Amino acid sequence: MSKAALQQLYSQKRVCADDAAARIASGARIAMPIGCGQPPAILNALANRARAGGSDVICDVRFYYLLCTGIAGQTIFDFDLRAQFVPMSYFHGGVERALDRVLQSSAMPAVDVMPCNFSQVPRSMIEHVGVDTLIATVSTMDADGNFSLGTSADYSIRVARKAGIRIVVEVNPNMPYVRGDCLIPLSDIDVLVENDSAMPVVPPAPRTATDDKIGAIIAGLVDDGDCLQMGIGALPDAVCEGLAGHRRLGIHTEMMTPGLAGLVRSGVVDNSAKQTHAGRSIYSFALGDQPLYDFLSDNPAVEAHGVDYTNDPAIIARNDNVVSVNATLQVDLGGACNSEFMRGRQFSGTGGQLDFVRGAYASRGGRSIIACHSTAAKGSISRITARLDGPTTTPRTDTHIVVTEYGWVELKGKSAAQRAKALISIAHPDFREDLSRAAHEAGLN
Ligand code: COA
Repeated sequence: MSKAALQQLYSQKRVCADDAAARIASGARIAMPIGCGQPPAILNALANRARAGGSDVICDVRFYYLLCTGIAGQTIFDFDLRAQFVPMSYFHGGVERALDRVLQSSAMPAVDVMPCNFSQVPRSMIEHVGVDTLIATVSTMDADGNFSLGTSADYSIRVARKAGIRIVVEVNPNMPYVRGDCLIPLSDIDVLVENDSAMPVVPPAPRTATDDKIGAIIAGLVDDGDCLQMGIGALPDAVCEGLAGHRRLGIHTEMMTPGLAGLVRSGVVDNSAKQTHAGRSIYSFALGDQPLYDFLSDNPAVEAHGVDYTNDPAIIARNDNVVSVNATLQVDLGGACNSEFMRGRQFSGTGGQLDFVRGAYASRGGRSIIACHSTAAKGSISRITARLDGPTTTPRTDTHIVVTEYGWVELKGKSAAQRAKALISIAHPDFREDLSRAAHEAGLN
């Protein structure tokens, strides 16, 4: 299509945010990208429409997504709109936890969660839920008439390609134009809204001396030439800092972070030792700060792909020496990890932890590392525990290396009793006696 024809089609599809919101019907099943891909002007217009009420009543609209940014909490997921807009979260963050506290204090059911491995979210949304609409922030249009999902290829690129899906986008010049498998053609878009608000910035998680200690231990388990996946939280950032002296590292990750981008900028990562996508860093979603978004923008050495690709254990294993680094909340004496549930409530989600634990172990020379502080709640609770308080995010049969500030242990090749002994050796000293007693009572000696 000629440039003039593209511009004409673009103009025909352009509407204001209120008009875009008016196209969402009661009962809609909406897919919304992760974080930066959530379109603020459309969310705001939806919330305004719901609050205005009158003859234009809207109700039971369900949103399927992972990880909200604040704007969703201030608009569609405000407590007063709970009958109109229902969060169907695959991964809780601050927004769901805040809403949950209000619901709990009103003796109402918690924000519902969709238990699902991240790699399987596209299929879950498309085949099982049957989402009918995608709303997303995209980059400005390129010369071929494509928009990039930029920070948020995630499940959204797959949903966008589902036949019959209604696509409503917010075109924002601040959304980085990223290459890879994350482009939506203008012809597939139903309507578009223009907005130039800044990308959400997530402040770095506060780092402690314990994070730095664990970061240094993990950095010592990484060799030059390894291919990295880093999870979410303060610990992975501390690991990135510990890797400053490494060379020829690669990146194949679900989440691109400021820490990983910093490793590319400093030359620690050059992706030269990778077997697949050599020379390029691969991710599925990015969340962080403006320097990260600037790094992604129009960068030929970076690609974003759908999460069913980045997180497919068989794709992960195409690279040798994959090292995955993820955090957990609790590890039981057999090595099973609860990384998502705390104090009787859903805290986060399964995410891609198990995808990468499996993919890294399937990679030749690969290792998966799961880390946590030895204690929580100001030292009053041991995170190495006789029994998990929530669901198993990573089963004991998959857990490979566990790290706390007291060191690291490898669980593969160890019996149940040997695992308990190894894990107790990296528990906080104050809890080792109790844990040894629990292990003895469970016949683990
Ligand atoms: N009981 C009570 N409180 C606990 C606890 C427990 N068992 N475990 C942790 N806490 C507290 C901590 O003390 C901390 O409190 P503070 O903020 O007052 O210090 C708080 O809960 C958060 O724990 P922390 O370990 O700092 O969480 P984090 O922000 O580093 O996130 C995970 C860790 C595990 C929640 C996060 O990595 C996650 O959701 N992972 C699952 C998915 C995944 O790994 N995906 C792959 C990569 S995206």
